[in-house]
Amino acid sequence: MRLQDKVAIITGGSSGIGREIAKKFAAEGARVAIANRTIATGEETAAEITGQGGTAWAYACDVSKAADVEALVAAVEADQGPVDILVANAGTLINKPVEELTEDDWDTTMAINLKGVFLPVRAVVPGMKGRGSGKLILIGSIAGTWGYATGAAYCSSKGGVIMMMKALTAELAGHGINVNCISPGATATPLNAEHRADPEILALFSRNTPSGRDFVPPQDMAGAAVFLASDDSKAVHGMNLVVDDGFSSVKPAG
Ligand SMILES: NC(=O)c1ccc[n+]([C@@H]2O[C@H](COP(=O)([O-])OP(=O)(O)OC[C@H]3O[C@@H](n4cnc5c(N)ncnc54)[C@H](OP(=O)(O)O)[C@@H]3O)[C@@H](O)[C@H]2O)c1
Repeated sequence: MRLQDKVAIITGGSSGIGREIAKKFAAEGARVAIANRTIATGEETAAEITGQGGTAWAYACDVSKAADVEALVAAVEADQGPVDILVANAGTLINKPVEELTEDDWDTTMAINLKGVFLPVRAVVPGMKGRGSGKLILIGSIAGTWGYATGAAYCSSKGGVIMMMKALTAELAGHGINVNCISPGATATPLNAEHRADPEILALFSRNTPSGRDFVPPQDMAGAAVFLASDDSKAVHGMNLVVDDGFSSVKPAG
């Protein structure tokens, strides 16, 4: 077991990529705190993990609200002990042509995708610094380095996450805290259910992905997260680990 008895907070752990990371962390022996807004779905995921012999709890938290995040970390520390690992994964996706993107769309995207990474990081860092160890895994996106039409808000937020990871590495590596990103490519989750229902999008993605797959299964993100959470990544700092079936590495086929 590579994460035996480690305490891990996974924001957005009730669905998609976060859910698969939570399940895999628990299978590797971690005690997992699932944090998202809808407590029922968090509890459902925690129950599935517990049913499989793992250890997990659900906490209601809106990552865009400082008070929620501070309360989350205080509760997890009181219930489970010091937080060893944070996976800042909660996110939202609003794709619109720039002239249709409202101020509210922009603010919501930044509040969840960017501030919603900063706030949990800020809440767990004092404890990690005090213990001289910790793992911060920020979920970026290939859209943080690669632009697409209608993605002005989302791409900006994810580019911000990748830069936050680099700045935090400069600040925290000397304290024994590894800060890294995972940048998923198009992954089959509820976030993009609408796109996956469109045969043209499936064909386009498949054509442009060297593996030939259209969307990556969310389970395929979890191994990268285990690596970055484990002692195996002790010397890995400031890395943006792209997990996209090779999509962003090859010239588009068109
Ligand atoms: N799927 C992809 O193709 C893809 C590609 C690249 C990057 N990503 C990134 O991967 C991460 C996970 O995405 P996903 O595809 O797994 O999405 P998902 O299936 O839609 O899950 C999103 C999760 O985030 C939670 N969440 C949303 N807003 C929140 C908030 N304000 N506070 C707390 N939790 C919140 C949701 O629960 P509640 O709604 O109950 O709060 C849910 O648990 C995101 O950061 C996304 O940008 C995804």
